[in-house]
Amino acid sequence: MKKHLLVLPLLALASCGQTEASSGSSALASQPEDSLLNSSSAVNIDTEHRVLVAYFSATGTTERIAGHIHDGVDSDLFEIVPVDPYTSEDLDYYTGGRCDQENADDTIRVEIANQVSGMAYYDTVFLGYPIWFGKAPKIIWTFLEAYDFSSKTIIPFCTSGSSGISNSVANILSLVPSSTTVLEGRRFSGSSGADEVATWAKSQLATI
Ligand SMILES: Cc1cc2nc3c(=O)[nH]c(=O)nc-3n(C[C@H](O)[C@H](O)[C@H](O)COP(=O)(O)O)c2cc1C
Repeated sequence: MKKHLLVLPLLALASCGQTEASSGSSALASQPEDSLLNSSSAVNIDTEHRVLVAYFSATGTTERIAGHIHDGVDSDLFEIVPVDPYTSEDLDYYTGGRCDQENADDTIRVEIANQVSGMAYYDTVFLGYPIWFGKAPKIIWTFLEAYDFSSKTIIPFCTSGSSGISNSVANILSLVPSSTTVLEGRRFSGSSGADEVATWAKSQLATI
């Protein structure tokens, strides 16, 4: 059986170096019971991987692909939510606005409003995001620095207007320990169907 959204609200997860342990028991206690993780549900019955699908999506395209992966493989689903939601104005790039500013400075980290409960449990993380300026958005950088991905496998996926995924995979590789396996990943268009996405996700799990 699949489990939906396992989130612990925060305590805005500030930038670098913070782990889930630092969310504190008070955040855990404040959650309704049905939003807490039942990790046994995330075991993939075909591969026995413990799978998390984590994604950021500003306008819903990547979210739809993440949903197809979650539907296609036994997994838990986690939306990476910014503390400050992106407005249309923020997303209007090449205007000198928020996204341009975040892109221009690689020391910037976008704060995350929620937290994965029990990241240590998972051995495999599908990580999804839109391509911004050819790269992964800075909130993904924050996410990668917030948890210990040692010995886990990350399977990137993205959506974009046309750009490929490879530069963003280089971003990911630069932010995780050397013991993390980062697969090649895949870009999907907004029109990619559920079967196409699920078939790809299963094929990825079959290789690890
Ligand atoms: C700030 C910003 C930068 C973008 N940069 C690129 C880019 O470099 N290449 C590209 O093909 N699409 C780019 N896009 C388009 C998005 O990648 C695309 O619309 C994506 O599917 C949106 O996903 P979402 O709905 O999950 O946010 C950009 C969009 C924004 C808002």
